[in-house]
Amino acid sequence: MERFMIASSRRLSTLRTVSIRPNGWVCQSCRARGAARLRFSTSASISSSNSGNLSHQQNDKPYYVTTPIFYVNASPHVGHLYSMLIADVFKRWEVLKGRTAYLSTGTDEHGMKVQRAAELQDLHPKALCDANAETFKDLAKKANIANDYFIRTTDPEHRDAVEFFWARLREKGYIYENKHEGWYCVSDETFYPENMVEKRVSPITGKSFIASIETGNAVEWTEERNYHFHLTAFREKLLQFYKENPEWVVPAGRFTEVINWVENNLEDLSVSRPANRLDWGIPVPGDPSQTIYVWLDALVNYITTAGYPHWQPGSEHTGGWPADVHVVGKDIVRFHCIYWPAFLMALDLPLPKQVLSHGHWLMSKQKMSKSVGNVVNPFFALDRWGVDTMRYFLIYSGHISGDADYNNAFIVEKYKKGLQGGLGNLLNRVTRPKNWSVRQAVENMARTQGSTLSPEIVYHRKILGRVVEKADDHMKALNPSWALQDIMDVVFDTNKFFTEQAPWERSKEGDMVAVERTVFFTAESLRIVGILLQPFIPEKASELLDRLGVDPTRRRLEDAVLNSDDSYGTPMVPLGTGAQGSLFPTLPVED
Ligand code: ME8
Ligand code: MG
Repeated sequence: MERFMIASSRRLSTLRTVSIRPNGWVCQSCRARGAARLRFSTSASISSSNSGNLSHQQNDKPYYVTTPIFYVNASPHVGHLYSMLIADVFKRWEVLKGRTAYLSTGTDEHGMKVQRAAELQDLHPKALCDANAETFKDLAKKANIANDYFIRTTDPEHRDAVEFFWARLREKGYIYENKHEGWYCVSDETFYPENMVEKRVSPITGKSFIASIETGNAVEWTEERNYHFHLTAFREKLLQFYKENPEWVVPAGRFTEVINWVENNLEDLSVSRPANRLDWGIPVPGDPSQTIYVWLDALVNYITTAGYPHWQPGSEHTGGWPADVHVVGKDIVRFHCIYWPAFLMALDLPLPKQVLSHGHWLMSKQKMSKSVGNVVNPFFALDRWGVDTMRYFLIYSGHISGDADYNNAFIVEKYKKGLQGGLGNLLNRVTRPKNWSVRQAVENMARTQGSTLSPEIVYHRKILGRVVEKADDHMKALNPSWALQDIMDVVFDTNKFFTEQAPWERSKEGDMVAVERTVFFTAESLRIVGILLQPFIPEKASELLDRLGVDPTRRRLEDAVLNSDDSYGTPMVPLGTGAQGSLFPTLPVED
């Protein structure tokens, strides 16, 4: 099959501010002197930018959250959707708080994995990339992900950014040439040291092969000359940085693994592959016989999107960098928490403020993965269960620390309990009956004072008073699942409250004050919960607020305060009848 090389003639055409050393390689002794000479100078600025003690320049920095960029060797699955969703909820939460926020997602298109997938399908790699990048884009759209960017590593701006980045690393003396021998895993696109591989027997073919202990994927022995990044030069800097920023990696357990790795396993990193093996990638500037390592290429995407390298002095932050959170799965922590900060340190660039690494979705106790083939097609799932049901289920039931089991029965269970029986039912109970009017209750009760209220109502008010702060605390701790659970607990509590207060009974007795009090506090509950649910289930939350008649301009986080809106209560849309007219109708098929 024909080999493909990205045209190198256009490289650095607009970015020739950095000269590439004409002699290509840097000799060992020059490298040693170069590395020693370069004093690292950003520790102060890094720790201040990561401690929340922002300099004045960063006060107007937009919030910036990213997802991994996904390999295009195969179609997306529910695991990819999950990372997108978490990032989307973070972005929407910031918007709810009134902040400008950017979300970036995209596709990782170079490297051996994609090159081989294209070969197998007898396709030009670019054709494979074009087709699959489109599918990932479609997924983001279908799942109502509010991404501002969709970056592809084959985008010309990205190629320019990577070439510039490489040239700077080289100029600073952190890249040198060396012979490399080791186990390369195409599936994971990484080298593994000897103590991280083992012999295994394939249960399908009965043949033995060498595999990564960590991922179980096959590795192959390679011997080649390539460029190395002087990662070990950053050992102390990294450890110091971790120490100064103890919440940099969430959850803490994974941060400990990162620190252990840096303390015990750090080696210099191969950052290119010979072009005769891998040519689907960005050629090394000044040396087209080598192709830039796909992970170096990929990580730079986060700054390409933020406008690198066209940053004006003093306003580098306007594109969002440093990112507030990189959302990644637990499988790619090492790349984001060791290699990436070291690359950035090498160029004195600010580091991302936090990395959230979440757990995996499993199918039959095994990680859902393109390579294994045990994947759930997210398009089918979104069609079958509905966008907001999937958003709700994945966020509610997904875990940050541990893994979670994917099962249709769990989706049905969560839908019935939380959405249909909880939220939808509560909304119907308060808005549909003819023996009271929500609008009337709001008008009459909006200024109700605490002193005249029963203990149940005082308790209910307390719950409502606390939920915003509790949810926000969970979001700050990067746990959207717990935030959602706390919000939903208010729904469950309010349903109980409503049942106990039995306004239908009070209405028979003619006690309209008691009726309106219950209706009012229930409606307030729904209004506050509805506002808070917008980042999680945007369409359903907006319909809920429409049914309650909440003015669209009064749906911000600062509006989610008890007694702060006396204008609502007149439905803006029909309330529907029966189960099928509910906000969450009965599911058509359940198995
Ligand atoms: O690693 N459960 O791309 P990738 C939860 N291109 N999340 C999952 C998952 C699962 N079963 N499977 C995948 C790459 N993910 C690189 C990233 S970033 C600069 C380059 C999610 O296509 C999770 O976020 O293998 C995981 O880290 C990512 O998809 C890996 O996607
Ligand atoms: Mg992967």
